[in-house]
Parts: sequence; C-alpha cells; structure tokens
Amino acid sequence: MIKNKTKLYIKADQINSICTSLGRNITRDYTGKELVVIGILKGGLIFLADLIRNIDLDFKVDFVRLSSYGHSTQTSGKVEIHLDVSLDIKNKHVLVVEDILDTGITLDFFIKHLQSFEPASIEVCTLLDKPSRRRVEVSAKYIGKKIDDHFVVGYGLDYKEVCRNYADIYQVLDPSIL
Ligand code: IMP
Ligand code: MG
Repeated sequence: MIKNKTKLYIKADQINSICTSLGRNITRDYTGKELVVIGILKGGLIFLADLIRNIDLDFKVDFVRLSSYGHSTQTSGKVEIHLDVSLDIKNKHVLVVEDILDTGITLDFFIKHLQSFEPASIEVCTLLDKPSRRRVEVSAKYIGKKIDDHFVVGYGLDYKEVCRNYADIYQVLDPSIL
C-alpha cells in the first residue's frame, strides 16, 4: 500500500475543524447573495462534500473536471476541461472549491474561463495551499492550510489516481515512487 511509504500529515479531525471554520466564514460572506459553488473533480470531491455541509445557506452546486497533470506529479502546464460548468452562473457569486493550489496554472486557466460567463464575483476556497510552488499569480480568499513543498495524498488527493479514499492526508516520503 502507498500508505506504507508516507507519514501522517493532517489528521481527519483537523480537516474537520478546517471545514467548520471555512464554512462559517463562507456563510457570513455570502448571506443575502446568490451563490454557486463549483467543485473541481476529482480531487476536490471529498473536501467539497464536507465543506458544503458547513455552509448554512441555500445555494447551487456544480462540478467541473479539469486536468493539468496527466499521470505525472509535475504539471504539464496545459489544462484541459473534461466536464464544463452546467449551471447558469451569469450575475451569480461563484465560489470555486479546489483540493490544493500548487503552481496556480489550473486555477488561473479556470478563473479566466469562468470570467467569460460573466458571474458577479469569483472567489476560491482551497483546502491546501503550497505558496512556494506558485508559477502564476493566483490567490484564494479561503485557505484551509498552507503547507510546504511536499507531495500529499488522501482526502481526495491522488497519486496516479489512487489514495483518494484515505480519511487523513499523508506526506509521500519515498520520492522514488513519484
Ligand atoms: P496546479 O495547477 O499546479 O496549481 O495544480 C493543481 C492540481 O495539481 C491540484 O488540483 C491537484 O490535483 C494536483 N496536485 C498538486 N499538488 C499535489 C499534491 O501534493 N498531491 C496531489 N495532487 C496534487
Ligand atoms: Mg489530481
């Protein structure tokens, strides 16, 4: 199991507190506004499921599937849309939910794409942020936790499409598997 080549990095109960706190801030900031939450598949799936249950408002949820990595751990720099926005977001307040903000290339591309639909606002909520890896300027208004430059798996985050089911987040220790 890949888990044997990792060390526990963020425990499920810490992730749970992060979701509670982010949900409270989002509830406060979007009260009285028409909100559409857009989850980025596949990595953002589990975070989105926990986060939205902590947002005490009526809002719509949509999903997109983007990829920039292929099967490597280094970004290819080219983002593809495999599943696009399906709700009408014109004049709506959009909150994009992402698992991890790394180089910023994926979100930079996606935010520019969203702008073409003319939403009232676009903000980003990311569970993890690796600011030291940024290659393009992207900032998230809501950040669960800033981390150093480690490759992490679990809680939706994958290594070659596996490990998404781990309840906690683990740091990959053996770089030879990456
Ligand atoms: P960016 O375009 O470089 O910001 O890449 C963002 C995407 O890369 C995320 O949505 C993840 O799917 C993936 N990614 C970046 N860092 C990690 C990591 O440490 N573990 C797993 N996936 C990662
Ligand atoms: Mg991924």
